[in-house]
Amino acid sequence: MSNTQANGESNIQITKKAKMSGDTATLHLDGIPPEVLSKVEKYLQLFQLSPEMLQEVSARLRKDLLRGLGKHSHHKAPVKMLPTFVRATPDGTEKGDFLALDLGGTNFRVLHVRVEEEAQKVLKMDSQICAIPQEMMLGTGEQLFDHIATCLGDFLESQNLKGKTLPLGFTFSFPCEQLEIDKSILIRWTKGFNCSGVEGKDVVQLLKEAIHRRGDYDIGSVAMVNDTVGTMMSCGYRDQSCEIGMIIGTGTNACYMEEMKNVKRIEGEDGRMCINTEWGGFGDDGSLDDILTEFDVEVDKTSINPGVHIFEKMISGMYLGEIVRLVLVKMTKDKLLFKGQISETLGTPGQFETKFISEIEEPDSGLENAKKILTELGLDWDPVDACVVRLVCDTISSRSARLCAAALATLVNRIRNNRKLDHLKTTVGVDGTVYRKHPTFSSKLQKAVRLLAPQCDITFLVSEDGSGKGAAMVTAVAQRLAHQSRLLEESDGEDNDEEEEEEEGQ
Ligand code: BGC
Repeated sequence: MSNTQANGESNIQITKKAKMSGDTATLHLDGIPPEVLSKVEKYLQLFQLSPEMLQEVSARLRKDLLRGLGKHSHHKAPVKMLPTFVRATPDGTEKGDFLALDLGGTNFRVLHVRVEEEAQKVLKMDSQICAIPQEMMLGTGEQLFDHIATCLGDFLESQNLKGKTLPLGFTFSFPCEQLEIDKSILIRWTKGFNCSGVEGKDVVQLLKEAIHRRGDYDIGSVAMVNDTVGTMMSCGYRDQSCEIGMIIGTGTNACYMEEMKNVKRIEGEDGRMCINTEWGGFGDDGSLDDILTEFDVEVDKTSINPGVHIFEKMISGMYLGEIVRLVLVKMTKDKLLFKGQISETLGTPGQFETKFISEIEEPDSGLENAKKILTELGLDWDPVDACVVRLVCDTISSRSARLCAAALATLVNRIRNNRKLDHLKTTVGVDGTVYRKHPTFSSKLQKAVRLLAPQCDITFLVSEDGSGKGAAMVTAVAQRLAHQSRLLEESDGEDNDEEEEEEEGQ
């Protein structure tokens, strides 16, 4: 662990300074006597990142973005920068009926979506949720895709859609090497999934095979969509300057519109393409080791994918609760909390849920919530314990928000430089439980981005069902572009005919 304070300042001074400069936003220090605070801070200062350090993190990510985009460097790049084959954001002329599938968390969803050109609306006609049991998340790929095909079949049946072959947008929120809009190879599972026989395979093919195994319905053309892309596209229909999509939920990631000439591994120089950064993998080559705490190292070591998605493990909902739990356990072992008594529940991995952090940080009811949660965890707490737990939650969620801000600042600064602008005005579509549900996460993130990207004016738009409506939107835009290029080819053909006729006539 190397981010210990080397300049001899006392811990209390550090927090006071941080508080004054707004670095740690409004840390909850009330109710903690100074002698306890100075001990507690020994653990927490490891999570406090100065603006200079955040700038450094952003600079490291900037280099990794370039590595990911490079023709020869992308194979080994920790930040994958995956081309999505989405070449345009919505222009408002999209229309039609679509199916959307959404797999990326503990549930799987099927939706019927209608895009209306006149009303410029994306309507969810109907949807169905199917749970993915834990065993299935760790079972075989065939079982998983059979389950998906069954859910889709049941939905089509219930909607009387079985005879129609509607185009389908498939939101599959895992890192995939996309070869075409409908050919997408899973690089690796994340977020607790680990089904055998899927990594390295084309997910569209696996879905089609499962549908053919049933043989009772078919689907039209497929567009593969990462949830970040769906988020960007669903916001893009409302605000056409939306060119970044960001998720801070179970996992974290972002996509943005990059200049084609910079996407070295895809032919073509003109226009733009949406790049799925997979920024969760930042740090997988050790580039963030100096800011990892012993708690981050432990979370990684005990995860089902050690060494993978290090940045994500410092930020996203799947891991934040566990980081807090590990800090609380250590403080208790050192007799700083709960009279030195760890309850069985607090001692069990996964038992401090990320949603507790949001509840404990509620501005008005936070302390009361903390007391209730600590009682439910079987802990013998006193009022100071509750305040310390709130400070721990606050510190860890603030670090998450500020790391996300550093990453987002890297993207907006890149877009501004790409376009050689002094000032960029842009919109970011956002989704994810951490961003939506945590009481102060979004304001902390926005404040830190303003600090790190002062020449960018960013509007944050919370997406309305990016994984459902957004996937339909990606499919609709793909169809519009295909239709336009068909028209173009046909009109080229007509020109040729005319030329030939002219030649004949001469
Ligand atoms: C996945 C990304 C996804 C993100 C948010 C990560 O674990 O690798 O593809 O966008 O989670 O859901």
